[in-house]
Amino acid sequence: MIITIDGPAAAGKGTLGTALAERYRLAYFDTGMVYRAVGLEMILEGLDVHNEEKAAALAAKLTFVKMIKLSRQKDFRSDVGSRAASIVSAHPQVRAALLKMQQDFALNPTFADGCPAEGVVYDGRDTGTVVCPQAEIKLFVTAGPEVRAKRRYDEFRQKGIETEYEKVLADMIARDKRDSERTAAPLKPAEDAVIFDTSELNAAEVMAKAVALIEEKKSKNGF
Ligand code: DC
Repeated sequence: MIITIDGPAAAGKGTLGTALAERYRLAYFDTGMVYRAVGLEMILEGLDVHNEEKAAALAAKLTFVKMIKLSRQKDFRSDVGSRAASIVSAHPQVRAALLKMQQDFALNPTFADGCPAEGVVYDGRDTGTVVCPQAEIKLFVTAGPEVRAKRRYDEFRQKGIETEYEKVLADMIARDKRDSERTAAPLKPAEDAVIFDTSELNAAEVMAKAVALIEEKKSKNGF
């Protein structure tokens, strides 16, 4: 089974994706990591994140091992890393260079320990439209910008990253604008995606809704 979860930043994709992967024993691919890896590598190499050719060259050489190594760096999930990821992800050549790596994962999905899995939960804003349009289940998870900024702010605080709510909200709005206005993979739900607005739902309620939907589709379509 392949499940895709698309939607804007901090809408609850990761929480839902990891919970669904655990429940259905599927591998989990957080596709934002590929863009974060390229963005961070650009910064570490002293390159301008707006340079599409240079970013695409790094993207073409990205491997899972390198991505995991970069993910341990402090700026991988900071606002600096998020901004870099958002900018490099708007370059069409970068997206093209990273597509095969993401699609190939479904051919041979593995858990973090390397054991084979029988399917994948893809988390990322174009996974239902571009990376895996053949997915059996497509969810589009969203919430208002204030709710998402508050969630991201709490996450930063928990990780000991110093920041202010107003700054997180401003960054979130700027990122939403960039991500929805860009021409390369603008943020939009797949036509056959089911939309969940999580503004007023907690994680358990979102999970219950998703499981009900999956069970219904499974019994109807027999996969
Ligand atoms: O989900 P995230 O916050 O880790 O994503 C980081 C950036 O990568 C985000 O600004 C948008 C981009 N991204 C994308 O363009 N396509 C994806 N499938 C996943 C993330």
